[in-house]
Amino acid sequence: MKLSVLLPTISTSFIVISAIFVAFGWYHIVKGNRDTHKKLMLWGAGFALAFFLIYASRTIFVGNTSFGGPEELKLAYHLFLFFHIALATAAGVFGIVTLLHAFNERFAKHKKIGRWTAVMWLLTAPTGVAVYTLLYVLYPGGETKPMIDAIFGL
Ligand code: HEM
Repeated sequence: MKLSVLLPTISTSFIVISAIFVAFGWYHIVKGNRDTHKKLMLWGAGFALAFFLIYASRTIFVGNTSFGGPEELKLAYHLFLFFHIALATAAGVFGIVTLLHAFNERFAKHKKIGRWTAVMWLLTAPTGVAVYTLLYVLYPGGETKPMIDAIFGL
């Protein structure tokens, strides 16, 4: 497998694994298991961070892949990609705030924002899998080129 396909395959898997940890972490705090919640959420955050590091290094060293599907799907693909990136970025920022509230024991605030973080991350994962599927599975991946070109469809 080429590096330009292998790295996104690994990073997309990490988003999915992270979301699974977050889903179980949420389940456990609802059940009142605070220690399990903490452990699962920290694993979820770890996999999210690993995803981000792989994604960022790939963007820098390899580049991003442009959409290789039919012309008439291009606009819809880019709108969807924007939605996914916006969601992932917001979830990342919210995730940091959620963790800071937890470590500083501001649990009322943590709980409030944590719900948004979890929902956003649980939506980031399936939309990420959809982008991956459109980019590498349904259609042959297009050219791999610098981030800005690939994102804006240039
Ligand atoms: C990014 C990681 C995390 C996320 C997304 C997250 C998410 C959540 C959510 C959604 C709730 C509310 C559950 C509900 O009632 O529906 C919650 C509650 C809670 N979380 Fe987290 N959490 C994270 C990390 C942590 C960590 C690291 C700790 C421990 C240091 C922690 C401790 C707690 C506690 C004690 C509550 C209960 C708060 C209360 O009921 O007043 N969480 N979290």
